[in-house]
Amino acid sequence: MRLWSGAPPAEPVSAPALSVHHLSKHFGGRVAFEDVSFEVGRGEVFGFLGPNGAGKTTTVRTLGTLLAPTSGSATVAGFELRPANGVEIRRRIAIMPESPGLYLRLSVRENLECFADLYEVPDPRGRIDGVLRAVNMTERAGDACGTLSKGLRQRVALARALLGDPEVLFLDEPTAGLDPVATREVHELIVGLRERGVTIFLTTHRLEEAERLCDRVAILNTTLRTIGRPDELRERLFSRTLTVRTLAPLPDPERVFDGLPGVTSWHIDGPAAYELAAPDPTIAAPAVTRALVATGADVLSIGEDRHSLEDVYLKLIDEDPEAGRR
Ligand SMILES: Nc1ncnc2c1ncn2[C@@H]1O[C@H](COP(=O)(O)OP(=O)(O)O)[C@@H](O)[C@H]1O
Ligand SMILES: [Mg+2]
Repeated sequence: MRLWSGAPPAEPVSAPALSVHHLSKHFGGRVAFEDVSFEVGRGEVFGFLGPNGAGKTTTVRTLGTLLAPTSGSATVAGFELRPANGVEIRRRIAIMPESPGLYLRLSVRENLECFADLYEVPDPRGRIDGVLRAVNMTERAGDACGTLSKGLRQRVALARALLGDPEVLFLDEPTAGLDPVATREVHELIVGLRERGVTIFLTTHRLEEAERLCDRVAILNTTLRTIGRPDELRERLFSRTLTVRTLAPLPDPERVFDGLPGVTSWHIDGPAAYELAAPDPTIAAPAVTRALVATGADVLSIGEDRHSLEDVYLKLIDEDPEAGRR
């Protein structure tokens, strides 16, 4: 569901929200990003992760028609990325930049009025009321932006981005510098937008944020290092393991673990802990449990180790010889 009903889009709704092919952007001799390709489906929350200087903001600015790519091609909201389509694309997208850029002496409502005017938003009054409600800022509409906390300013910036009822919303590090409570609030707003069917392109270097909010993530470090669902990336990079903890060390662990179904190898991982390589834990875990019970061991826990997206990220970026140079 869109925030506001309007004319149906001219392009088929099944077209991806973003489709990017071998896109590069150089600033003179400096490469901001190189040979980047990916697709984002309609209604998807897509995370774009990478260290400082990886090219995230430049990608957003390029797809948002603020910068011309050096090479490659893309479609944005169904339109080919080229200068002649700039107006059509900008009508369907919004960018929330890293710094909100609000008029601090003006009230929240006055800020939104200025931008509604600039974007030539039809029915500005109704829209402003709608976006204020969408970001829970109706009560603060009369406050000067300069008196608001950073978290509330971010909400105003989000309201501004929603003024044009975008199909695709680019959020560039929306929670950078926010405290945990304000971060949580921005996350809840993103979840709400996703439920309304807005496609969200979220750049971040907060990995727990990407893990919580994103359907898929891409990891960028000038070039795209990997792309997939967080659980797919975990499985692609890390083998699955079970950790067994017992009250006392097993007298004869070889007899327990050697040759168990689903266990390809194992090693001792502490005084009374054992790490088992188990590509399919649904086979291994029951077999391990039975074997331990049969030996009379006092089992404290048998658990599958779950690597976080942070583990995936650090492994990829650590292996990346360019990372250290930034
Ligand atoms: N306008 C510009 N002119 C020259 N270099 C730029 C410009 N904008 C960004 N860069 C360079 O491009 C690279 C990527 O920057 P950026 O996209 O801001 O990264 P990120 O958002 O991932 O931190 C950096 O090396 C940066 O210095
Ligand atoms: Mg940036």
